[in-house]
Amino acid sequence: MAPQIVPSIFAADFTRLGEEVGKVVDAGVQMIHVDIMDGHFVPNFTMGTPITESLRRRFPHLKLDHHLMIEDPDTYAPIFIDAGASCVSVHCEVCRNLDRTLHMIRDQGALAGVVINPATPVGLLEDVLDIVNYVLVMSVNPGYGGQQFIPNALNKVRRLYRMRSERRLNFAIEIDGGVGPENIAEVAKAGVDWVVAGSSVFHASDAGKAVRELQSAAEEAISIRV
Ligand code: DX5
Ligand code: ZN
Repeated sequence: MAPQIVPSIFAADFTRLGEEVGKVVDAGVQMIHVDIMDGHFVPNFTMGTPITESLRRRFPHLKLDHHLMIEDPDTYAPIFIDAGASCVSVHCEVCRNLDRTLHMIRDQGALAGVVINPATPVGLLEDVLDIVNYVLVMSVNPGYGGQQFIPNALNKVRRLYRMRSERRLNFAIEIDGGVGPENIAEVAKAGVDWVVAGSSVFHASDAGKAVRELQSAAEEAISIRV
């Protein structure tokens, strides 16, 4: 199946957030990516629950994929789920009791994802792959938009893809950071299901067109996959 493009609102114009999200929804997007940063786990801040609540009210059917780049996901995951998050991913680098945290997210009614940084090996996830709904592979170091794609992320995606088929599991594979028209084909061919795209969508002159072009490039790449 062709991957779906998941625009990251981190790159959007926050003075016109509803309009920006409306553009990508009109282009067929079913899920958007919401980056939550606490200034501790990553050297940057983004947004809190008021944004989640507003998006949930204005786009009741849109999936809100929350990427928690925070030190204390156990406290805040339930708060974001209450505010309207549909999917919540936590960094394995901060979770001391990852199994418990992932079960907690699912029990609260959201899809549970685990994220790995560029320096974190895929092998660390071996014992949670049957609990997670998705694995997010960072293809940049978290904290900023508009960074350069780290190619080794694709080796991690391929490995996860193999592990998933060997173990007959069904988690989704997501990639985040530095994806745009120049590498979308390669990303799609590696076996990614959800492709996060921030600057390549919201910094384009027409966000809707940018999404449609990424989506069709991904579909075309998959159709000629060998
Ligand atoms: C980085 C964030 C990403 C970011 C991606 O820490 O997790 O989701 O928005 O932005 P681009 O697509 O510009 O690399
Ligand atoms: Zn992200």
